[in-house]
Amino acid sequence: MTTIRFIREGVEIQCRPGENLRDVVIRENLQLYGLKGMLGNCGGAGQCSTCFVSIEGGASNSLSPLTDVERQKLKSRPDNWRLACQTLVKSSTVVLTKPQSPPSNLDKLIDDSKNKKLPK
Ligand code: FES
Repeated sequence: MTTIRFIREGVEIQCRPGENLRDVVIRENLQLYGLKGMLGNCGGAGQCSTCFVSIEGGASNSLSPLTDVERQKLKSRPDNWRLACQTLVKSSTVVLTKPQSPPSNLDKLIDDSKNKKLPK
C-alpha cells in the first residue's frame, strides 16, 4: 500500500500502487470538484478539466507520467497540476484538491507537510 496525504483535508489515505487518483478521492468521500465540476463533470474521461489537483510533495516519480490529454488540458496551468482522473498513484505523494481555490493557509499547509515524514 502507498499513502496519499491530502493537505486541504488533513488526512492520509492508503491506496494500492497503480490506483487512479480520482477513484481514490471519490471512494474516500473527499471533495474533488469545485462548483463547476459538481454541477457537471465528465466522469473521469479527461474531457471536462474540473478534477484539478496540485502535487505538493512526494518523489518526482510518485505518479504516472502526464497523459496526452493532460498536456493539452493543462497547457496554461502550473507545472505541478494534474487531472486526477488521468493520474495513477505509484508511491506516496502529497495532494491539494481544488488548487484553483487555494485555502488561505496554503503555505502553512505545505510547510507543515514538508516537516512531516511521508510514509513510503
Ligand atoms: S473528471 Fe473530467 S477531466 Fe477529469
